[in-house]
Amino acid sequence: MKLTVTGTGYLGATHAICMAELGHEVLGVDISAERIAALNEGRVPFHEPGLADALTRSLATGRLSFTTDIAAAADFADTHFLTVGTPQHSEGRSADLSQVHGAVTALARHLHGRHLIIGKSTVPVGTAADLRRMLNQLTGPDTTVDIAWNPEFLREGHAVRDTLHPDRIVLGVAPGSTAESTVRDIYARTLADDGTPFLVTDLETAELVKGAANAFLATKISFINAIAEVCERSGADVTQLADALGHDTRIGRRFLGAGLGFGGGCLPKDIRAFASRAEQLGATGIPGLLGHVDEINLRQRRSVIDTVTDSFDGDVTGRRVSVLGVAFKPDSDDIRDSPALAIAGSLSRSGAQVTVHDPEAMGPASRILPELGYAPTPLDALRGAEVVVLATEWRDFIDLDPVAARDVVDRPFIIDGRNCLPVEAWIGAGWDYRGMGRRF
Ligand code: UGA
Repeated sequence: MKLTVTGTGYLGATHAICMAELGHEVLGVDISAERIAALNEGRVPFHEPGLADALTRSLATGRLSFTTDIAAAADFADTHFLTVGTPQHSEGRSADLSQVHGAVTALARHLHGRHLIIGKSTVPVGTAADLRRMLNQLTGPDTTVDIAWNPEFLREGHAVRDTLHPDRIVLGVAPGSTAESTVRDIYARTLADDGTPFLVTDLETAELVKGAANAFLATKISFINAIAEVCERSGADVTQLADALGHDTRIGRRFLGAGLGFGGGCLPKDIRAFASRAEQLGATGIPGLLGHVDEINLRQRRSVIDTVTDSFDGDVTGRRVSVLGVAFKPDSDDIRDSPALAIAGSLSRSGAQVTVHDPEAMGPASRILPELGYAPTPLDALRGAEVVVLATEWRDFIDLDPVAARDVVDRPFIIDGRNCLPVEAWIGAGWDYRGMGRRF
């Protein structure tokens, strides 16, 4: 099938490449000439395991290319995925839909005949219906544009697998739409090979499924972090508690990892946008609940900053702090709303000498916080440190030799912000080890 994908950020670049992997002919579109040039040259502009190889393979088949010319997209195909970003509005908590409106308006001007736009971006409920009305006004009498919503659930670091083998495919359609058969054809291979559940809903439900999924995941993380606080105050251990909870299949162990909490380009802004939209609709439960989830999440960062500060009797000025990790999670170079970078930045602003190391995210971080020290290896980051904060659970950090690490620091005090280190080995090597919600 011939498909276009408008917006080649994390979601769109991955989607375009994976659709080509499924055998479709794909044209990716973006307004950023730099991004389009990189993709056409086989360079993925962010770190995502497996994606660069998939891009190289697909470019070589001739089934995948990228352009800045939206008119070319209108000519290329009659099925168009919409994958532009929906960041948090610069003022307030709601989603900024300017990229969605900009992309649909630009595409609509060039459409003739019958077309289908399939939205994948995370949007407030009601957006697809608004776009439908907008499209009716923007297109001429010779043109009909159907709109469907097919939310994306991929995780950074697992984006290729999540796109090619999703847990479920959700499709929201307008009354009388024929989009279901087109979308079934697009994902035919996935549906046949994996028996993936395919759920067809109205547009509003599909939009809400995505927001609700991220809200639930965020709530699960903040729930365990709130429990971690109770554990800490009562001498219990949150990791053992989470293991025990996780055996209950109604609860499940995943996303019960207590620690520095959630960050990234999705969960934080999505819960705020979801709460803001619910408030507009007059629904009172969600804004209150997600407000607490957000607050508990941000408190985790503050509690680590406080522990570091307390260890210096309240004044971090000139003290040497090492932060391991700046990405919001491992296997990613994404620093958007990263708890790790927030902690490093805050301690540095308070006067500490902060040195960091991250296997992939030091480039992006140094453009935002050039005042931090950037060390080429984890041990270099630890050299002379008086406190170490493990902030992102990269394999390189979990595998660090605690004896070698102790030998290079000034004071062997580590805060394991992700509860990921082998505690006994670190304590055995002479470290003062502090976990999150644990006895240690
Ligand atoms: C999230 C969702 O998991 C995806 O399903 C969704 O498609 C995506 O947002 C999106 O909306 O695009 P992602 O942002 O890649 O994916 O990251 P997650 O794996 O969900 O992790 C989010 C944050 O939660 C990370 O900072 C991670 O460290 C933290 N986390 C995760 C915890 O603190 N504890 C846990 O137990 C799990």
